[in-house]
This record gives sequence, C-alpha cells and structure tokens, in this order.
Amino acid sequence: MSSLPSLLSARVEAVTGIDPELRPATKPQFGHFQSNVALRLAKTEGKPPRQVAAEVVARLQVSDLCEPPEIAGPGFINFRLLNSVLADAVSDQLADPAVGLGTSPEPQVVVIDYSAPNVAKQMHVGHLRSTIIGDCLNRVLTAVGHRVIPQNHVGDWGTQFGMLVEEILAEGIDVGQLTLASAEDLYKQANAHFRADEEFATLARQRVVALQSGDPVTRAIWRQLIDISLAGFNEVYARLDVKLTDEDMAGESMYNDDLENVVADLENSGAAVIDAGALCVFSPGFNSPMIVRKSDGGFGYAATDLAAVRHRVRDLHAHRLIYVVGAPQAFHFDQVFTVARQVGFLPPEVSTEHVAFGQILGPDGKKFSTREGTAVTLTSLLDAADAEAAPPVALAAIKYADLSTGLNKDYVFDVSRMVQTFGNTGPYLQYAHARMARVLRNAVEEGLLPAGDAASAVRVTRLDEPQEQTVALLLSGFGEVVDEVAATLQPHKLCTYLYDLARAVSAFYEECPVLKSEGDVRASRLALCLDIKRVLAAGLDLLGIEALDRM
Ligand code: ARG
Repeated sequence: MSSLPSLLSARVEAVTGIDPELRPATKPQFGHFQSNVALRLAKTEGKPPRQVAAEVVARLQVSDLCEPPEIAGPGFINFRLLNSVLADAVSDQLADPAVGLGTSPEPQVVVIDYSAPNVAKQMHVGHLRSTIIGDCLNRVLTAVGHRVIPQNHVGDWGTQFGMLVEEILAEGIDVGQLTLASAEDLYKQANAHFRADEEFATLARQRVVALQSGDPVTRAIWRQLIDISLAGFNEVYARLDVKLTDEDMAGESMYNDDLENVVADLENSGAAVIDAGALCVFSPGFNSPMIVRKSDGGFGYAATDLAAVRHRVRDLHAHRLIYVVGAPQAFHFDQVFTVARQVGFLPPEVSTEHVAFGQILGPDGKKFSTREGTAVTLTSLLDAADAEAAPPVALAAIKYADLSTGLNKDYVFDVSRMVQTFGNTGPYLQYAHARMARVLRNAVEEGLLPAGDAASAVRVTRLDEPQEQTVALLLSGFGEVVDEVAATLQPHKLCTYLYDLARAVSAFYEECPVLKSEGDVRASRLALCLDIKRVLAAGLDLLGIEALDRM
C-alpha cells in the first residue's frame, strides 16, 4: 500500500520532472501538503515562480486525490486531499491486518547491538537507554519487514575477572550463593584489595593468564559469575518487557578463539604494525591508533569489536549494522568501522550506524548518582516509577520519556512529570487508547458495532468535521512515519506523531459525539474510533509500551 503523500508526489513529479518534496502544511488554511517545486523550477527556467506554479497546476492530474491545488504566496502549491480519499485510506487501513506497515521494498538482515551490560555489575541508567532504544528499533525494523538479529554484546571478558576469581578463592566464597547485587559488592571489594595489596595484585594478574589459557578451575568460577549475572539481567529484561532473550546473547568472550585470526588478517593486510610492543592500526584521519593487542599480549575492546563486525557480516549475513551505545563511545566505533573497512571485514554495501545517545540526569540536572556518589542502578529507577503508578503505566512513563527525547540530548529523570496522564507523556497516549477502547466497548454493548474481528469490516464513509479530517489525515500517515523511523533510527519521530495523534483524538472526542450521534455519522465515527485504537495500539507496541484498555 503506498501512502497518500507518495501517490500525490509521484503525480506532481510526472509533470515537474523533479521531486516536489511535499511537506505537511504549516497551517490548516494551506490544506494538507505544500510544495516549493515551482520556486525551484523558476530558478532554472528563469521565469516568475507564480507563473511556473500556474503552469504546473494546469497540467496536474490529481482531481481523483485532492481538491483543485491552490497557489500561495511567492509560488507555493497547496494540496488538500479529498475527504472521500482520506475516508477510504482510513477504511483500507482498518481492513489491513498490518495497519499499513510492512511495506519495505527490500527486506534486509539488520543486526542491532544493544543493552550490553557488564558481568558482575548491575545494569545502570546508560544500559537502560540502550535497552529501550534498541528494543524499539528492533520492533520498528521488524514491523517494516526486515529480519532483525539482536546481539547482546555483554562485557563478559577482561582483566576484572582476574581479581574477582582471585578474591573468591582467597575468601573461600561459595559462588553458588552469589546474586548479581552481591557479585557487584564482591567486585568492589576485589578492586580495593587489588589496589591495597601488591601480593594479591600479582596473583590476580596471574589469574587473568589462567583464565585466558583455559585453566578449568578459573573458567568454572568465571562461568558461574556469568550465569549469575545473566539471571540478573534477564530479571530486568522481563520487568522492562523487552524482546531480548538468551539466544541474542553474544558476549565478548564468544570471540576469544577468533582473535588470533583477526590479528593474522590485520597483519596480512598490512594494516597492523607493532608500536611500542602493542599491535596497532593507524588510519588516516585519526590522531591515535587502534590498539588491537596490548604490549602484555592481552586483547582489548577494539579487537573484540573487530571480530564481532566480521562475524555479523560473514556469518550472520548482515546488510546493516546498528550499535545502540552511549555517545562517549563515538570515537571507538568510528575507529572500529574505519579499520574494518580498511581490512575488508566490512564490504562497501554493508552500512554501519552508531546510534549514540545522551545521558539520563538526576533531578538536579547533574550526572545521575546516588547519595553515596555511586551510579544509580536501573532497578532503583524502575522502583521509583512503580511507586508513582501501576507497573504498566510506570513502564510506559519511563520508556516514553526516554524515546521521545532526541537521541543526542540528555534528559532529567523526573518521575512525577513522566507518569502524568496529560502533556507529552507515555500515560497520556495510553489514556487516549483506553478512551477509544471504552467508547468501542460501550458501542458493542449497545449493539451498535459487531464484536471482535467482524468490526474491521466497518468503514469510514464521511468526515464532516475538521477534527475528524485532522485525525484521518494523521492516521493515513502512520506507515510513512514508521518507515521514516526505520530509515533514520530516530524513535522520537514516532513519539511526536503519536502525541499529535492523541491530541487530535482528544479534540475529536470533545467536538464530535460518537455514541450520541446517529445513523451513518455514528457508524462512520465508530469506524474512525476503531482505526484510532488500532493505530495507537500498533504505535505504542512499536515503542514497547502496553496499550491498556482500561486505566
Ligand atoms: N559493555 C559495554 C559498556 O557497558 C557496551 C558494549 C557495546 N557494544 C559493543 N559492540 N561494543 O560500555
């Protein structure tokens, strides 16, 4: 199903030969869409823009789609869709099980790297953003027809395990009794021990070597630490209602055996050189090299990421690689992608995108930390929201606050604002949905609407009031907004759309009686309500938010 603006756009382009770049009209009196195509053509043709606009309009064949186009101001062309066209678009959407989604012309394999917490540490607020944004992108890309492979690049390898395992052995700790929270305490204890006690530090360093060379006792404890941590992460995922599963787990340690091959490939390609004992790759445009292997022989974060890129391209057959990771890692990814291209791990047709995001700030507008100065855990944020609202509403509040903020912006975690059912919040959208659900429930009870699936056969037959027209225009644009999010990876565009829709619905609800009207007006408004409910539910689902029938 192609959207109304793209249909209209194609008609105009048939006359002008260039993309009319239709934009939503800035004011209702300008119709629904506006194009500056005549202004652009006038420049190349050296004619007055209004004259060019008149010539274009004279040759346009759009009478089946819109009212006669109008020329405005210096030569803009304004289009207003016919009410009957809008009504049919809404009715078709209502009859379509996919709500107008799934139109992506070329299905791709998309790998999304998100969440990625670190073993033996609780997830903190940064991981919340990655998890929520990644989950939303997963849903959106899947909905438009791509095959999404999530990869949870958990930090489950590295020198910290040396001291952790050593501490466990030194203190005779029963690993089986640990939880994620107590493992984190143990981590802090081990860290302090490492810094205070030279003898312990040496043993911890030797323990890293034992881990890397596969010593069975060390590996067994390490494995137990991972299992405890994964259980803790899974609890959080369940509470967040996100789609990540054990199958998506692809921690750093997964690439261990491949790191020697990565090094060999880097050396053979001539890209890697030894610099002060470390294996480095220098790339043009970077003022520091990528360190693949440190001088002590240990592999770094970058080496693992190079192996991960290669795995995703070669074994998972990805067309598009997406990394949802905080903005401070921008340099790292820039360098990883550059080196991966340089050595041929990343063919030109595979795209890479670092979806970088800002920080969640505390109520004082500063970096969010506890009174003790430690990072705030994700669980404590969820608890704070649950104290203010029922869990599905609290979760909607948190997710929406996160997704509706432009990715690069920092935002303040203000629970009492986020849970309100008015303003630009998740609960406000849930409320709009619940309102429609109530109208429809009452209609079914009064015998005005068939129950269940049969209801999707009803049609919008008239749009008399401006509030109805506004709602219909918005509804017909849903698929396009979702396509845009799939292309630009900016969830806030979907949030803005849904907020605009919810506001338009509220105006419609206030001005246009549904159950109290009669005849085909009532039937048509009920059909409109049905489609509103479906689009709100589908949109909320793409954000990972539950569409409630009652609130
Ligand atoms: N574990 C890392 C962190 O907490 C994030 C990993 C992101 N993904 C990646 N492929 N590097 O900062």
